[in-house]
Amino acid sequence: MQDLNPLAADLNEQIRSASSAVGGLLSKLGKRIYLPKGILSQTAEANAEAHQFNATRAIALDFSEGMGDLMHLPVSRKLVPELTPESVYGYASVLGQQALREAWRTHLLQENPSLSEKTFSLPIVTSGMTHGFSLLAELFVDSGDVLILADQIWGNYRLIFQTKAGANIQTYPFFNATSGFNTHGFHRTLTEATDEKLIVLLNFPHNPTGYAVTHTEAQQIVDAIVAQAETGCRILVMIDDAYAGLWYDETVMHESLFGLLLGCHPNVVPVKIDGATKEEYAWGLRVAFLTFGLDATAMQPLEQKISGLIRANTSGASQISQTLILTAMQAPGYAEQKQHNYETLKARALKVKAVASDEQYTKYWDAYPSHAGYFVCLNLKSGNAETVRQRLLAEHGIGIIALGETALRVAYSCLDVSDIETVFAEIARVVERR
Ligand SMILES: Cc1ncc(COP(=O)(O)O)c(C=O)c1O
Repeated sequence: MQDLNPLAADLNEQIRSASSAVGGLLSKLGKRIYLPKGILSQTAEANAEAHQFNATRAIALDFSEGMGDLMHLPVSRKLVPELTPESVYGYASVLGQQALREAWRTHLLQENPSLSEKTFSLPIVTSGMTHGFSLLAELFVDSGDVLILADQIWGNYRLIFQTKAGANIQTYPFFNATSGFNTHGFHRTLTEATDEKLIVLLNFPHNPTGYAVTHTEAQQIVDAIVAQAETGCRILVMIDDAYAGLWYDETVMHESLFGLLLGCHPNVVPVKIDGATKEEYAWGLRVAFLTFGLDATAMQPLEQKISGLIRANTSGASQISQTLILTAMQAPGYAEQKQHNYETLKARALKVKAVASDEQYTKYWDAYPSHAGYFVCLNLKSGNAETVRQRLLAEHGIGIIALGETALRVAYSCLDVSDIETVFAEIARVVERR
C-alpha cells in the first residue's frame, strides 16, 4: 500500500469536514490523488510576478513582432484568423477556461429554473462527457462498489464503470407495465442494495429510447433517493444530461433532475455531467462539464483532487475547442441558430412519433415512448433485431442499431424529415420477410 502523500491527506481531511458524504464516497484512488505543487504553482507565481523574463512555461514564444506571442505555424493559424494565438495554441487551465466555466454556469441557471438560489459548483471542463464519467469513476468507484443502472442504457457506462473500474452493476427494467419510467423498480433496487455507499446513474433524455420523465416521475425518483439516504447510505447521483434542451413534448419535464436533487439530503451528492457535445452541436470538439451539488468549502479540496486526476491523464481539455464554444455562446445569432436546430430536430421527432406508431406497423413492433433527444426505439414482436439490422444494411443500405434480441434504435437526428416514412417502411418490409 502506498503511503498517503501529506497533501492528499490534508485534502481528505478538508473534504471530510466539509461533507462527510463526499469523504465517505471517495474511492481508494480518490483518497490518494492530489495536485502536486511544483511546476504548476511555480508557473502561476511567475505569471503574477515575473515582470522581467518569464522562463517557466513549457511553451515557445516568438518575439519577431515585439512582445512575444505564442510561436505557431501560419498554415494552421490562417484557418482561424479571428482567434488569438493564445486562445488557439496555448494550454488551457487544468479545470478549463474560467470564462467558459462561468458562461456554462449561467447557461445552466437559464435552462434550469430549479437551480435558482440553490448551491452548486462552477462547472469543470472535461474532454467530452466520457472523460467526465471516467474522472467520476476514478474519484468515487472501487472494485465491487454498487452502481445502479437501468437495463436500457448508453453502452459506454459498462465499459467505464464495470470493465475499467470494477463496479458491481445492479439493474432494474427501465419501463414499467404502462411504458412509463419504472420508479418502483428503481426504488426497489435502491432498497435492496444494503451497502453504505451507492452510486446511481440516471439519463433523461434517454439513450437509447428518447424517453424523458414527467415532473411526477422526477419527484418519485428524488423521493426514492432521499428515502435510501435516510437509512444512512451515502449516494453519489450522476445525472447524464447529454441531450439537455432537446425536449419536444409538453407533457415531460423540460429541465434536469439535478436541480431537484440539490440539497435534497446531506447524504446525497448530485453531479451533473453535460456538455457541448450534443447541446452545442460540437461532438468532436470534446468539451463537456462536471457540475457538483456542493458548496465552495467542499469544492475547493475536491477541485484539487480532480485537477490531480486530469493532470494525470489528459492534462486538460483542448484550448481551441473551449475557445470555439465560448466565442459561439457569446456571438450574435447564437440563440437563433440553436433554436433553428432545435426546431429541425423537433419536426423530425414529431414525424417519427406519428410514423413509428402508425397502425400499419403494430403487428411488427411497439415503439417505446420517445419525447426528447435523438432516438426512437422499436421493440420487435417477432424476429431478431440483429438479423433485421444486417438485412436492412445489406439489402437496403440503411444503417440502424440492434440492441439485445428485439430492440432497434433509430437515430432520427440523422434523417431528413422527408426520408423518415421510407426508413420505417423499409424496416417493416425486412421484418415482414424474415
Ligand atoms: C447518454 C450519453 N451520454 C454521453 C454521451 C457521450 O458524450 P461525449 O461524446 O461527450 O463523450 C453520449 C453519446 O452518444 C450519450 O448518448
